[in-house]
Amino acid sequence: MTETDSQRDVVDLLSADHRDFDRVFTQLEGLVGQSGPDALRRKRELVDEVTIGLVKHSVAEETRVYPKVLERVDREEAEHSKHEHAEAEETMKRLERMDPDDPRFDGEVQTLIREIRHHVEHEESRMFTELRATFDRDELVRMAEEVERVKALAPTRAHPMTPNEGAVRTVLGPVASLLDHLRDAVSGRGKKTD
Ligand SMILES: [Fe+2]
Ligand SMILES: [Fe+2]
Repeated sequence: MTETDSQRDVVDLLSADHRDFDRVFTQLEGLVGQSGPDALRRKRELVDEVTIGLVKHSVAEETRVYPKVLERVDREEAEHSKHEHAEAEETMKRLERMDPDDPRFDGEVQTLIREIRHHVEHEESRMFTELRATFDRDELVRMAEEVERVKALAPTRAHPMTPNEGAVRTVLGPVASLLDHLRDAVSGRGKKTD
């Protein structure tokens, strides 16, 4: 069998995302405690990059994977995972409102890393095993395609209204607006008018 991206199943795809997040986390950990201008700029870039990746990944899971887990595997498992996403979203929202030279910034970065590592560990040790035990290969490959489609609905860069200024960031949180944008796009509600 030829290995192409389109044949990756959903577990391979989501696991690859998890490895990408962890690579960014490792870079961020190396910057903890550093306060030079380059380090601060890099922290901001890395946090924004991983935030976009995490939001896309989470919305894709919540709309294309967890409902199937809920239906055919374990309702409690799906709900627990969604709750962990919501917690991490709150941390990302605090981070986006904070300048990297804020004394709380590194602590919030470490909170995000801890929350996501815990969540990933949980998904990979339990949910992914259950997915492969419950769904056949075709279903898992189709789920991967759907996850890719949801991820493609999001902008690949930080929200266009994301200057590196705390004051502007608070007006319209990029995390919240990206979540809104994606959830609307996925649900077919289209452009929000409010
Ligand atoms: Fe995940
Ligand atoms: Fe997740």
